[in-house]
Amino acid sequence: MRRVVAAAALAAAATLPARAAGDAARGEKIYERCAACHSLAADRTGPRHCGLVGRKAGTVAGFEYSNAMKRSGIKWDARSLDRFIAAPLAAVPGTSMGYDGVKDPKERADLIAWLVVAQRSAECAKPYN
Ligand code: HEC
Repeated sequence: MRRVVAAAALAAAATLPARAAGDAARGEKIYERCAACHSLAADRTGPRHCGLVGRKAGTVAGFEYSNAMKRSGIKWDARSLDRFIAAPLAAVPGTSMGYDGVKDPKERADLIAWLVVAQRSAECAKPYN
């Protein structure tokens, strides 16, 4: 009996991080809001998002960032992305990202889950990155 309970607890714990990290499939849908200015593999109005997770803010070579972004000192991870996407102008005052943000924390979690998964997509495996 003890064993069964322990196994059940382990199984529950194993599914937890995935849930807390959000639903990538939903996130891909939410990303359509970003796609007005961003794509994964190419710079548009905003910089490409391949390579985003783990890189320093404002460092895609050849993309013209605001000074605010270049000087922000941010490294993009789940936490800093959550903060920025919630309220871009509050997180990086002076950013040229003209977007009001995603207010719903669940939507942000889904979006970030998808951004993480997308780093391993075929699009991001191209040599251009
Ligand atoms: C209206 C156009 C626009 C929309 C919509 C937009 N962005 Fe941006 N984004 C930009 C621009 C322009 C920059 C560069 C900002 C700067 O240099 O201050 C940027 C920068 C970023 C950065 C920093 C990238 C880096 O290389 O440091 C992240 C992260 C980001 N956007 C995520 C998102 C996400 C996620 C969404 C959708 C929820 C989104 N953006 C929607 C225009 C946009």
